[in-house]
Parts: sequence; structure tokens; C-alpha cells
Amino acid sequence: MNFDEVIDRRNTGSMKWNFAPGPLDPGQCIIPLSVADMEFRSPGSIRERLKELAQEGVWGYTGPRDQYYEAVNRWYSLRHDFPVKKEWIVTTTGVVQAVYSAVRAFTEPGDKILIQTPVYYPFFRAIEQNERELLTNQLIIRDGRYQIDFDDFGKKMKEARLFILCSPHNPVSRVWDREELDKIAQIAAALDVFVISDEIHCDFTFKRRHTGFSQVARLHGTRHLVALSASKTFSLAGLNLASILVEDPGHREAFSCRVRTDGVSTHSTFGFAAAEASYTQCDEWYEAMLAYIYNNFLALKTFVEARMPEITVFDLEGTYLAWLDFGAVCNDHQILEQHMIDQQLYLDEGYIFGEGGQGFERINLACPRKVLLAALERLNKVYDHLKARRNQ
Ligand SMILES: Cc1ncc(COP(=O)(O)O)c(C=O)c1O
Repeated sequence: MNFDEVIDRRNTGSMKWNFAPGPLDPGQCIIPLSVADMEFRSPGSIRERLKELAQEGVWGYTGPRDQYYEAVNRWYSLRHDFPVKKEWIVTTTGVVQAVYSAVRAFTEPGDKILIQTPVYYPFFRAIEQNERELLTNQLIIRDGRYQIDFDDFGKKMKEARLFILCSPHNPVSRVWDREELDKIAQIAAALDVFVISDEIHCDFTFKRRHTGFSQVARLHGTRHLVALSASKTFSLAGLNLASILVEDPGHREAFSCRVRTDGVSTHSTFGFAAAEASYTQCDEWYEAMLAYIYNNFLALKTFVEARMPEITVFDLEGTYLAWLDFGAVCNDHQILEQHMIDQQLYLDEGYIFGEGGQGFERINLACPRKVLLAALERLNKVYDHLKARRNQ
């Protein structure tokens, strides 16, 4: 367990590291703190299990076995007080695939689907590429914290057939309170809107507890499903596996049928092996990793407050993604992005998350501290240049 180790991921096919245009020049190495995967090695027990499986050399068509269901139940019972029944679980190749399939299962072309911007951008694609209509309920900042504008939410829900909730929220890092979730569940039930609750980041909460949407949905009879995966928590995104919890048998049949007609019937043998190991043998690694990420956030906050006082850093409630407002020094997101590129710093630009994201930057904190500090030095240069430009 060494989170300080710098691992060279260049030329490995990593989407984060392949993102930078042009040849990789070691003298001018880019720092990408963008795509939400970790720069850390996954826990030793997972690596051991995968080595064993690699040695076995038999990797035929694979589905979940009892140990998988038991492992999922162990983790969510222990960490979130949320027992998961075997029969609820539908496995998919990822949460994004599940969102696409659920959009097709529970809406028709032309139906309206609501999301809360700024938000994880594949949600837009799942709506638009499936020829559904996008509705947005922009999150608002009140007292330095993102909040839901429930007046607008209620109005938009009247038009919507489906709502995609991001909980905890990527990129604004909110861990929704039980009261907020309860209100969402109540409104959705009253208007018969189906809710997809994407809870892939639920293991990353720092000061607040995550409330699973199911807990409030059950009280109101809200139609819903919950998307979970070990991929964020244990850095397994390349192993392509997610567990989708669909409690209602009719909805489960509709969803699994759509998953099958989307051509998905078996999954990665390595994905199951890794998930079983992560949910049962990696508690110590998980707790140490969470503490490391939070200390990264504190290092970032201290740095920004001391050296870039006009930048607002939002509190890290959930996810491992910090959210920073650059609006005070630059109101043009293209200029902001160009300055980042000039410093060879690749963050996720706020505008890609839709309305309300322009002028913000998202920074992936799941990296060795020295990489983060090097990135912050570059960010400081961006800040100085933008301030000089503004004051001209
Ligand atoms: C909110 C959210 N949902 C889903 C995903 C991706 O899930 P998957 O890799 O299982 O498709 C991410 C990755 O960043 C995410 O932030």
C-alpha cells in the first residue's frame, strides 16, 4: 500500500494519459488529473487473485456466482447499512452502459429526461444518443454549497418521464442529505417519474454518510434502480463490471431484458474475481486510501487559499474530485482551457458538465501527493497569467 508511488501510465492505453494531443515528450510531461480513475495500484489482494486467475488460464463465459452476491451484500451492509438481496442484482459492463439500457427500458424516443447540471457528461449522451429530450435542473450555490432548486425541480419533473440522480454528485461533490433525497423520492412518486440513482461514488464520503436512494424510495413507492460498482473504489474501471439493484421484479425484468437486447449477456471473468476480492479483503486498503485522498484535498485547499485566494474551492463532501471556481479571474472558458493546456495541465474543464459548469475546473485527487503538488504549481501559473490578463 504505497499511495505515494508514481506509476508511469503513458502508452498503456489509459484514456486519461492518451488524452493529451501530440507526442509524449518526457521533458515536458503533461499532468492529467482528469478522467475519474486512480493513479494508485489496486489492493494487493485483488492483484493476487487476478494473478491466480491468470495462471489458471481458463476464462470462459462468466456470470455472477454466489460468492459475488455475498461479497456485494457484505460490503454494502457493512459500509452503508444497506443489505443487498441477491435477486435484485443485474450485472452490466458498467454504470454508463446501465444508464443507456435503463433509458431505453423505461422511456420512449421523444420522452423528456431530467438531470441536474453541472453533471457527469455521459448522462447527456445517454439521453441525446437515444433520441430522448434533455431537461435540466441546474444546481444552485447557496451559502457556498450546492443545493437543489426544488421549485424548478418540481416544475421540470412534471414534464419528465425519467430522472437521473448522481449521488454523491459528480462534479460538485455533494453528498445529498436524507431530507433532500426524501423530497426527490416523494416528487418522483407523485408524478410517476422513474429514477436512476447513480451511486458509483458512494464509498467516497468524508464528513457525511451516504443515504442510498432505495431507503427513501421504498417509503414512497418511487420507481427506481440503483447503480453500484467496485470500479471507482478499487480502481477497476478497465475490468468492466457493475451491479444494478432493481428491487421491483417487473422493473427488473424490463431492465434485464433491455440489457440482453443491448447485446450484453456475460461479463469479464476478471471483473467478477476482482470485485469479490475487493468487497471482502480490502477494508484496510480502502480506509487508508480514503484518508490519503482527504489529505490530498486538504493540501489542495491550503495551497489554493495561500496562493490563489480568488479561486473558490468547494468542500469535498463526496467523490475524489475537487471542484474549483475560476470565475473571479476568467469568465471565458475557452481562454481558461487554453491557459491550462499551455501549462501542460489537463483537468476536466467545467463546461463539459453542462450549464453552470463554465469557468470551473474539476481536479482528480486520486494521485500521489507530489503529482498533485506539481499540478498545483502549474495551476498557480495559470492563475497568475489570468490575473495579469484581467488586470491589463
Ligand atoms: C457518476 C459516474 N457514473 C458512472 C461513471 C462510470 O461508470 P462505469 O465506468 O461503470 O461505466 C463515472 C465515472 O467517472 C461517474 O463519475
